[in-house]
Amino acid sequence: MSESKKIITSGMRPTGSLHLGNIFGALHNWIKLQEKYTCFYFIVDWHSLTTPGFGDAVGYENTKGLQNNIKQMVIDWIAGGLDPKKCTIFVQSHVPEVAELYLLLSMITPLGWLERNPTYREMLKDYKIEYPTYGLLGYPTLQAADILAYKGNYVPVGKDQESHVNLSRDIAGRFNNLYQKNVFPLPEVLMTEVPKIPGTDDVNKKMSKSAGNYIALIHSEQETLDRIKSMFTDPVKIRKTDQGHPDGCVVFAFHKIYNQEAVTVVRQECEEGSRGCVDCKMQLAQKMNQALKPIRDKRKELEQQTDLIYDILSSGANQAQKVAQATLSEVKDVMNLTRKK
Ligand code: TRP
Ligand code: SF4
Repeated sequence: MSESKKIITSGMRPTGSLHLGNIFGALHNWIKLQEKYTCFYFIVDWHSLTTPGFGDAVGYENTKGLQNNIKQMVIDWIAGGLDPKKCTIFVQSHVPEVAELYLLLSMITPLGWLERNPTYREMLKDYKIEYPTYGLLGYPTLQAADILAYKGNYVPVGKDQESHVNLSRDIAGRFNNLYQKNVFPLPEVLMTEVPKIPGTDDVNKKMSKSAGNYIALIHSEQETLDRIKSMFTDPVKIRKTDQGHPDGCVVFAFHKIYNQEAVTVVRQECEEGSRGCVDCKMQLAQKMNQALKPIRDKRKELEQQTDLIYDILSSGANQAQKVAQATLSEVKDVMNLTRKK
């Protein structure tokens, strides 16, 4: 590992098996980055406790599914192509130094920065949170600790996370200024163009677990077909011979991703009325299942190798912990918290 390699840090909330949005939005990018950078990829179990759970979803008052969600997610990371030999894969809470760093950073995080955080306001609305917790307000400080514990230079995240990374940078800068020492690099967002993955219900919505409009790696081929059958199509196209409008159709949006070679034909046949929606969906299911098969096969194999998964997570945590310990001792030194012998 060369010294000059820049450091990448990124986390995902433990929502279980990856859906197509996670794969195109984050995983593909992470896989590319592991070739060139020193990467720390973690499952942010603490962050999943900042919001209430609803239905089966994990939240602070419903943690039942947490360990299984973590396991399913790591299985998919590895089945999808993250290589524990090339990057460090672990669970956030397995490195308790991050919690100590979070405590120290919370001392210097101005309350106004957290209150003004646009994501906080959106979360209150989206999750219909009536009684926001201290933990939720402090979400970005915890995220800053995740990034800064490993001295992350770049943070590959989507647009929705940009404000959190900017806050992390502000916190890092404030720390360096207050204690007059460049302990932390100033992390930056690493934005990449990713195809938009719509929900199965609406081309204008994002695929997400909470909206239920997703297709996941853990789904069988039949389940995938069923979910494709339920996709929203052009409402004015009822019979095969009706002229359709593929641009508003979710099925077409997925043909663009999984059936690129035939997408012009699909469009033409839909528009001229020589393609029926049922056949169109069958064809998509076949293409999608074919593309996902290698990852699904690999995930099935890994599901039988629980020990391997836990070994990967524990050696990942050990590696990460060494780095976090070194950072924390620097932080404590500059804050005069290091115990005199
Ligand atoms: N907040 C991020 C999300 O919801 C997850 C996250 C936590 C994260 N800590 C991080 C992302 C550190 C990047 C770096 O997606
Ligand atoms: Fe959508 Fe295909 Fe039906 Fe056209 S034919 S509306 S692209 S499902």
